[in-house]
Amino acid sequence: MDLTLLHEQLHNRLPLGICLLNAEYQVLYWNDFFSDRTGQSSATVQGKSLLELFPQQARYLKKKIDSVFVLSNASFSYWEHQPHVFPFSSSRPITGEETLMYQNIEFLPVEWAGESVHTICLVVQDVTELASYFLAEQQLSARLEQEHAELKALNDKLSMAQNQLLQSEKMAAVGQLAAGVAHEINNPIGFISSNLQTLQDYAARLLKLTDFYEKVISKTGNDAYLAMQRDTQQRLQFDFVRQDLPELLSESIDGIERVTDIVKNLKAFSHVDNAHWQYANLVEGLENTLKIAANQLKYKVEIHRDYAADLPEVYCQPNQINQVFLNLLVNAAQAMEHKGHLYLRAWQQGQSVCVEVRDTGPGIAPEHMKRLFEPFFTTKPVGSGTGLGLSLSYSIVQKHQGEIDVHSVPGSGASFTIMLPVAGPASAASAVP
Ligand SMILES: Nc1ncnc2c1ncn2[C@@H]1O[C@H](COP(=O)(O)OP(=O)(O)OP(=O)(O)O)[C@@H](O)[C@H]1O
Ligand SMILES: [Mg+2]
Repeated sequence: MDLTLLHEQLHNRLPLGICLLNAEYQVLYWNDFFSDRTGQSSATVQGKSLLELFPQQARYLKKKIDSVFVLSNASFSYWEHQPHVFPFSSSRPITGEETLMYQNIEFLPVEWAGESVHTICLVVQDVTELASYFLAEQQLSARLEQEHAELKALNDKLSMAQNQLLQSEKMAAVGQLAAGVAHEINNPIGFISSNLQTLQDYAARLLKLTDFYEKVISKTGNDAYLAMQRDTQQRLQFDFVRQDLPELLSESIDGIERVTDIVKNLKAFSHVDNAHWQYANLVEGLENTLKIAANQLKYKVEIHRDYAADLPEVYCQPNQINQVFLNLLVNAAQAMEHKGHLYLRAWQQGQSVCVEVRDTGPGIAPEHMKRLFEPFFTTKPVGSGTGLGLSLSYSIVQKHQGEIDVHSVPGSGASFTIMLPVAGPASAASAVP
């Protein structure tokens, strides 16, 4: 068997490109891998410079080849750095598309003349399949990463929207409930309240009548009558009843007045009452409201004012906005149990006017921040807070298409800012001549 022929046959069957070069870059031999892809047989290219055969890649090839001759060591070219050294096409098994072949190349010293390399061999490996898998995977993971980021952003947006929706749904639900409850409660409260007043009057008359009888009996000087009277009064614990009756009645009247107030708030909360829209000066409103809240503020709070000059009037429902101010002022006063400072500020920002009410109270616990505007959320003891103040304020400000903002540093106070568009909400403008 002719071994040289066998070698050559083997070379040509290998899925590798083999090319022998001398130190002048001349091709000594290349196998069918090269011939098939260049259309030039080994015999035709023999003696030709590889650099001239592949002029586009000449610089890169020369550098690699030189390094083998100079360093007498193998050199490598990997597809990740230099994907297509030889401009061979390759059929991609994945998509069947014709593309450029991705190659790994080894530059090996094969013949030596003394110390120096005489001949080198280029071994070209077609790694298109591997590379395309790798690239597809890279693309996929980049796409996945991008989709993941997009999903995350979407998710964040969704949860924000859901929070807002939840908040406004809660408000709307409570609004409806409040409207219903306010309506239902209003009538009985009306007659209970008026009956209580009448009852107070009747009770006073009855007590006067018993006083009169007492006097008449004592005037008769009849011991039997007097003893009977004493016995009956003792049996019925009349002294206690006489003292307790007016107190019970005035407590009940106080109670019903509080309920009336709550119902009024609930009605305002559910927008049952339609207040009047007009241009109003917010600072004037704030100052007027301050007078109403004065007795809650005057002994313990030092008030500081910082109002910008020439603030435009704002198209609003002044009574409602004053209600908001009142809630903020009362909250601040209630927060500052002992002495404290109240900072009132008003300024213009773009097409809006902002009013800030800041106190130096204990501030708001972070876990309460989210719930402040929830109806019936209160941290105050039963009887002293209904938890409607801020939710009512929120709904009023929202109706004005404004914003209400809260900042708090626990331990050093809270600030509430309302921001109202000067022109009022679009719907109000069109509704008013
Ligand atoms: N300036 C403030 N400083 C500290 N906490 C505050 C302040 N304003 C509001 N809060 C907190 O927010 C809660 C809700 O306030 P909101 O005005 O809605 O209800 P309330 O004051 O408790 O009751 P209401 O106003 O109906 O009498 C309060 O109970 C309190 O915990
Ligand atoms: Mg309040």
